[in-house]
Formats: sequence, C-alpha cells, structure tokens
Amino acid sequence: MQRHLDTGHTPAPEQQRHLSDLPGPRGLPWLGQALRLRPARLHLQLEAWGRQYGPCYQCRFGQRAILVVADHATIQTLLRKRPERFRRPLLGGRIAREMGFDEGLFFANDEVWQRQRRMVMAGLDPGHVKAYFPTLLNVTLRRRSRWRAAAQNGARIDLQADLMRFTVDASAGLAFGVDVNTLDSDDDVIQQHLNRIFPKLHKRGLALLPYWRYVRLPSDRALDRSVAAVQEAIRGFIAGARHRMQLDPSLREQPRNLLEAMICAADRADSDVNDHDVAGNVIVLLLAGEDTTANTLAWMIELLHRHPEALERARAEVRSLAPDPAGFTPEQMAALDYLDACAQETMRLKRVSMPFGAGPRICPGRYLALLEMNMAMAMLLSSFGIETVAPAEGGTTREHLSFSMGPVGLRMRLRPLHGEFQRLSANGA
Ligand code: HEM
Repeated sequence: MQRHLDTGHTPAPEQQRHLSDLPGPRGLPWLGQALRLRPARLHLQLEAWGRQYGPCYQCRFGQRAILVVADHATIQTLLRKRPERFRRPLLGGRIAREMGFDEGLFFANDEVWQRQRRMVMAGLDPGHVKAYFPTLLNVTLRRRSRWRAAAQNGARIDLQADLMRFTVDASAGLAFGVDVNTLDSDDDVIQQHLNRIFPKLHKRGLALLPYWRYVRLPSDRALDRSVAAVQEAIRGFIAGARHRMQLDPSLREQPRNLLEAMICAADRADSDVNDHDVAGNVIVLLLAGEDTTANTLAWMIELLHRHPEALERARAEVRSLAPDPAGFTPEQMAALDYLDACAQETMRLKRVSMPFGAGPRICPGRYLALLEMNMAMAMLLSSFGIETVAPAEGGTTREHLSFSMGPVGLRMRLRPLHGEFQRLSANGA
C-alpha cells in the first residue's frame, strides 16, 4: 500500500496525509489490535470502528499497519487503480506457496497475474459458462432429489452446509473436469481435505505469529497430508483431461468444463501459461467459487423467507418462465429478472454495493455465480414450499466471516409443492 491515497490527482505535499495522521483505535505496543480482533467477527469490528473514526482510519495488527477505507467512491478508485498503483497483499500468495500450492489468480500479482487472468477469463466468459450448463443442471437435479427426501421425511436441512455441497459440486465439476458428487456422500475424500485446507488459509492470513515456520503441530502435519493428496488428485485430473482431449480433439474447440478451457489456453502456441498455472487455478477456482456463492444463496433464502411478498413474486416468475427443473435451459435462466434482482439485492444488503469488486481484478466468476444461483433458486421455488428458515439455536441470524461472510447455523424445513407431488406420482417416483 502506498503511503498516501492516490485518488486521481496528487495533492500538494502540505495536503498529503500519511497513515499515521489518520484517526483509529489505540492498540497495545507491538500487538496493536491483534488481541481484540476475532477473525469470525472481523467485519463487524471494522464496521463499528468506521462509525466511530470515519470512512478512512488506521489500525495496527501486530507489526502490520492497515488503512481501512469505508467510503464507496474511494474504494472504487483504489480498486480501479490496480495493478499499477495497488496490489493484493503479498501474504496470501506466500501462505499458499508455503502450503505447497502453485500460485493462482486470486493471490497473484504483477506479470503472473496478467498471464493467468487471460487464461481464467477465457474459461469463465459467458459463452463458455453457457457450455457448462449440462454439468450445472446435473448438480441442481441431484440436490432436488436430496431436498425432496428431506421434505418427505420432515427433516431439517443444514442450509449452509447443504448449499456448500451444491457449490462445491458445481465448481469442482467444472474445475476438476469430473463429477465429484459430494452431495450424496457424507464422506467425500477430496471435500474433507478441502475442509481442512481452506480454513487454514484464512487463519494463517490473520495469524499474529507464523509459528508453522518453526514448529509443526499435529494440525499442520494433517494439513501437509491434505495438500499433498489434493495436489496429486489435481495432477490426475489434468492428465485425465489431456487424455480425453487427445481422444476427442473437438474438445479443444468446445471445452465442456473449466479445466479443459484452461488447458486449451495453456496449449496455444502464443501461450505464456503452463500446467503449474493451471493447477494453481484449479484450487483458486474452488476456493473463490465455494462459500461466496453458497453464502449468498443462504442469505437470499433467509431474506426471501422473511419477506413473503417478494418470495411469492419470485415464485410466480419461476412458475411462468421455468416451471420444470428437468427442462431448465440457459435462456430460461437468463429471463428470470426478478430472481436476479433478488440476488443483487441480497449481495447489496450483505456485501455493500460492489459485490464482485471493480476494475481489472473484478470477479471473473460472476456470470457463473449468477447462473448457479438462478438455477438453485428456480429449482427450490418451483418444487418446494419453505416452511421454516431459522437459526438452530433460535434468535436472530448471526454473521460469521471466513473467506466470505455467511449466516450461522440456519436450518430449513421444506414441503413438496402440490404440482411436484402430482409429477412424482405421474412418474411413479
Ligand atoms: C456470489 C458469488 C461470488 C462473489 C460475491 C464473488 C466476489 C468476488 C470479489 C469481491 C472478488 C475480488 C474482486 C476485486 O478484487 O475487485 C472476487 C475475485 C475472484 N473471484 Fe469471485 N465471487 C463469487 C463467485 C465466484 C466464482 C463462482 C468463481 C469461479 C469459479 C470466482 C472466481 C474468482 C476469482 C478467480 C477471483 C480473483 C480475480 C483476480 O484477482 O483477478 N468467484 N470475487
């Protein structure tokens, strides 16, 4: 971070403010605010300080001095001035590399970011995302089966965990190039490894002391084993995709998943990316696409349940434009304007006004995320009535920050809709 904010013009030296000139909470010597900050509630603490110290303040976290900006226009300016004037913190990339991963787009800076961005964008543009529709439909219908069983048994669905399995299935199907199906198995091996890896990335990013460079605790050794297993699986997925593409060269023209699209980009004559870049981005696409999309869906379901008139309007739209999940098409999903507006409003309420960021590093997965969300919501609204959505512990829904911010402990109970029952009996299911 630069020492003063460049918002388009360079102020005269006497007008320039330095980090140390800004207001902010007083911290302990050496530790700063480190002992006060709880990673899972970090966003709430930063918001509270914003109300107290204004839209631009400083705080210290160990030896790291941090500038916090809560002003929309300034944030937009900063985001747009990347990569020339600002960059992602180097720490994320260092931690990922230390764990044993190749650097992927989310953590990369400078020329590594430039060349990887082209490759990832090529796999996530709207045209390619449309080609992934059959994979996404498969995952959506599988989830409907699971929810149908829960509805018929009157079982409560652990909303966040269940939606996470849906988004993992969707992202992993596209990033691995194979169907991993976490939805129907409670002991999926890859998912167990990822569940160990992703929270560690978050924790190490916020750790006061990088103890793991000096001492290996049992949890660090378990992490090493998980990283090695996932890396080996990824190498296998890349080899498998290359083999399929050799047998069927048409896949080079029309890749069916993200892995194939990235391999095509890596193999082009003028390409400056290689299999390490591909492997690094397989893991980044899983990380970036999992809980962001699952959390948004969970909040959206909670908000719609609390606003029945909006829920019924969304349901009416789905009934008239996309009534049968088995027959969903990309065109139907694109026509669901009200549902799309509900997703945008959910993100505005829970992530302020630039949910996908801005400028050259804007989220390349946004088309995929919006399509996944429309498919999941259209399936839910066409097939089920929502009986309850509430935290297991009662009271109001609490927020929890990990890679993104989600609701804590929501349980959902569904009932099959009448039309759904009729279709089921007609099909003899
Ligand atoms: C509702 C779902 C999602 C939300 C709210 C979201 C939000 C974001 C945000 C805020 C950023 C940072 C943008 C910036 O720095 O300006 C980002 C970056 C990124 N997102 Fe997403 N995202 C979502 C889903 C996805 C999905 C499904 C994928 C891919 C499978 C994805 C892949 C990425 C990648 C690779 C980056 C890094 C881009 C770069 O640094 O150049 N995201 N996302």
